[in-house]
Amino acid sequence: MARGAAFFGTRYAIMGGAMSWVSERHLVAALSNAGAFGVIACGAMEPPRLAEEIAGTQALTDRPFGVNLITMHPRLDQLVDVCLAAGVGHIVFAGGIPPGSAIKKAKDGGAKVVCFAPALVLAKRLIRSGADALVIEGSEAGGHIGPVSLNVLAQEILPHVTDVPVFVAGGIGRGEAILSYLEMGAAGAQIGTRFVCATECIAHPAFKKAFIRGQARDAIPTVQLDETFPVIPVRALQNAGTKRFLEHQAETIRRFRAGELDKEAAQLDIEHFWAGALRRAVIDGDVENGSLMAGQSVGMVTREQPAAEIIAELVGQAAAAIAARQQSAA
Ligand SMILES: Cc1cc2nc3c(=O)[nH]c(=O)nc-3n(C[C@H](O)[C@H](O)[C@H](O)COP(=O)(O)O)c2cc1C
Repeated sequence: MARGAAFFGTRYAIMGGAMSWVSERHLVAALSNAGAFGVIACGAMEPPRLAEEIAGTQALTDRPFGVNLITMHPRLDQLVDVCLAAGVGHIVFAGGIPPGSAIKKAKDGGAKVVCFAPALVLAKRLIRSGADALVIEGSEAGGHIGPVSLNVLAQEILPHVTDVPVFVAGGIGRGEAILSYLEMGAAGAQIGTRFVCATECIAHPAFKKAFIRGQARDAIPTVQLDETFPVIPVRALQNAGTKRFLEHQAETIRRFRAGELDKEAAQLDIEHFWAGALRRAVIDGDVENGSLMAGQSVGMVTREQPAAEIIAELVGQAAAAIAARQQSAA
């Protein structure tokens, strides 16, 4: 893990995947204090609110942590300024290819820039634009996902990108998996789902319970009913909300076909269905109607445990796998 750990200035090359509402000061500081790299999820926060969250995190840890910014945030530039003013060393740009100006601003201000690369050509383009490290996130991941699994992305990208560290994400729940991606050339791993049930995580007990009960097969991408109305794929645990979403799409499409709604209004109606739904699940504990974003690794979440214990487990599993190989080679 040396290369990835050196990049973050941490003991382990394990990034806490930023999770909106979940990755706030308590989980982020707990992960950084445990030797991993915590990342604040800025999500839709406004600049003053982000400044507050960064200061709150700094009060809980003196270790390095990062901030994840969504590229389509209307105040992306100001959010970068907030990170720089607070001395955040690493900015992760998520949710799309960041504008070159945002990358430049972050780097000129002294921060390292991490970007998501959904394909090899984009990985190369991002490196040319100044990305200091990349995350490749497979469709096994929780939340918004691309179409390709980490298994395939890793084979397509890791052998060809050696000039910057590449971190793998999606479906990672055990140390042996981290080790195998390190052996393929990854610099480390980004993990989300596995940290939701950290004791320090402020997610509602009902949200955590859903993760403890959930199995890989329950974490399913959103289903799109009609190609005329695209739906952004989000992997989440199935609940009453996901069933209602199908009915909502069917009803909206019916109204469009009956001439009651124009196409734009129908598309917006479908998109608005999930507005505020992650907050409802994570903070209010409405696990029936809220969005239970979770990766396929959810089956490996079996109980609530301190962040340091989860990190120790992951590192221990990786170390045991190396030791077992050395023994069988001897
Ligand atoms: C509840 C939840 C919320 C998430 N929110 C974000 C987000 O705001 N920004 C982001 O870049 N990724 C987000 N993700 C993705 C994670 O950062 C991470 O890449 C992903 O969880 C890795 O896959 P895993 O869950 O299988 O470990 C979210 C994931 C979950 C489960």
